[in-house]
Amino acid sequence: MPEGKQPVLYVIGCGGRPAGGLPDLVTSLQSDGWTVCVISTPSGARFVDRALLAELTGYPVRVEYERPEEPPVLPLADAIAVVPATFNTINKWALGISDTLALGLLNEAIGLGLPLVAAPWPNTALARHPAFMPSVERLTTCGVSFVWDVERLPLPNSGEPGAASFPWSELHSEIGRIRTICTNRIGGGR
Ligand SMILES: Cc1cc2nc3c(=O)[nH]c(=O)nc-3n(C[C@H](O)[C@H](O)[C@H](O)COP(=O)(O)O)c2cc1C
Repeated sequence: MPEGKQPVLYVIGCGGRPAGGLPDLVTSLQSDGWTVCVISTPSGARFVDRALLAELTGYPVRVEYERPEEPPVLPLADAIAVVPATFNTINKWALGISDTLALGLLNEAIGLGLPLVAAPWPNTALARHPAFMPSVERLTTCGVSFVWDVERLPLPNSGEPGAASFPWSELHSEIGRIRTICTNRIGGGR
């Protein structure tokens, strides 16, 4: 990252209710000195306010890969945060599946060695699925930093959004930690 440039954080929203809280997160990250771009999975697009997030960030909320003739519209990322990270996206990410723009960026980011934070938000039943913890562990060995607490996950079929206990504060702190890594990478080295 060139000296003086603000680090660029991609916030990737997946298909869970906490994605509706991204505007507040974006605003506080901007106050911390990040340039923020929001990317959504196709399912996440049903939960995020794309117009508001585009207005806040100054960048369109990308959902699909660009067409071959289209120039890239987003600056390159210095770090990525997945908020919330669904059961589906965590498991696909761990397997290296790239069938959404979000997953393509996340898979490439591992190879690039970018700082990565994920806030998983499966319900308590999905968290017990035998695929889930091995996915989290595999991604952890790849350098992904996880912010979550099993005790605070939503219950299945409760009708409750669960978003009230989403770990916004812990997530904000962890993103602050990776900002230090980004700002120390002066002069490039992606
Ligand atoms: C109303 C609603 C809420 C959902 N909340 C969650 C959630 O909190 N966590 C989760 O892992 N999946 C949740 N899902 C299921 C995901 O949206 C679904 O698995 C989807 O395929 C995820 O796609 P993505 O990982 O590409 O975003 C929810 C689905 C609906 C319809």
